[in-house]
Amino acid sequence: MDGNGRWAGKRALKRFLGHQQGAESVQYVVETASRINLPWLTLYAFSLENNLRRPKTEVSFLMKLLKSYLIGNVKRMNDNNVRMAYIGRTHDLPQEVQDTMQWAMESTAKNSGTTLTLALNYGARSEIVDAVRKILTDLTTEAHTRGCSVEDLLGAGALDSLDESTISRALYTAHMPDPDLIIRTSGEQRISNFLLWQIAYAEIFVTDRLWPDFNGLHLLEAIADYQRRERRFGGLNENSDEKIDTLQPVSELETEIATELTPPRELSRR
Ligand code: FPP
Repeated sequence: MDGNGRWAGKRALKRFLGHQQGAESVQYVVETASRINLPWLTLYAFSLENNLRRPKTEVSFLMKLLKSYLIGNVKRMNDNNVRMAYIGRTHDLPQEVQDTMQWAMESTAKNSGTTLTLALNYGARSEIVDAVRKILTDLTTEAHTRGCSVEDLLGAGALDSLDESTISRALYTAHMPDPDLIIRTSGEQRISNFLLWQIAYAEIFVTDRLWPDFNGLHLLEAIADYQRRERRFGGLNENSDEKIDTLQPVSELETEIATELTPPRELSRR
């Protein structure tokens, strides 16, 4: 969700208004995802670095915006069969924000369409640190239960059986497939500490469009671009991917969706 600040700057508006407009874009993108039966959509809404390095006033505005977004959109999530989930060190967010997040997650838990995962207070390196901590804690607990040492367990096969799936299962995203496509708005050509482990083979789509200008049609455009690519996963043959390729070709849906989902209203200077 990059480019909120620049969107505001171009209009001589305060950064806050850029974020507010960015929050408006979210629902259009989510509802388009739901309309095309996209099973997973993950938005990098707030990084650990944003939390540490942005001014306190901006962070606190973002927290309020997140809370009011959740309160204002749970009904629409339910109308669109969207389930809410989160990844990140969410336990470090303000308690009232956590409470609202929990409420939104529980209120949408029975939905079976798109899972919208918000990455909040998220950093991929810290996710890997948390995964390693979890693996070591689980190992120590197992050693206690068996009445032996961690060293004994390692010698008895725990070290040899540690593989890529051990790491994947310890990440916040254990329950999710790896992403097929990563969309980067505002023309930035970097990963910015997002899902570093999981995007090993993801396709990258970079658009100059700023996040507040990004809507459902642009999501379709990115997916259509993805659907034209050949993925080899380091191998030689095509046809190895079956995830979002099983979606209806989105080019068939663009006109229909354009009439159904109007882009967000633009905020004016207050
Ligand atoms: C990037 O723009 C965006 C953010 C740092 C925050 C986005 C978060 C929200 C809009 C909060 C609400 C969240 C949801 C899911 C409704 P930037 O400030 O880095 O823009 P710039 O690169 O142009 O300065």
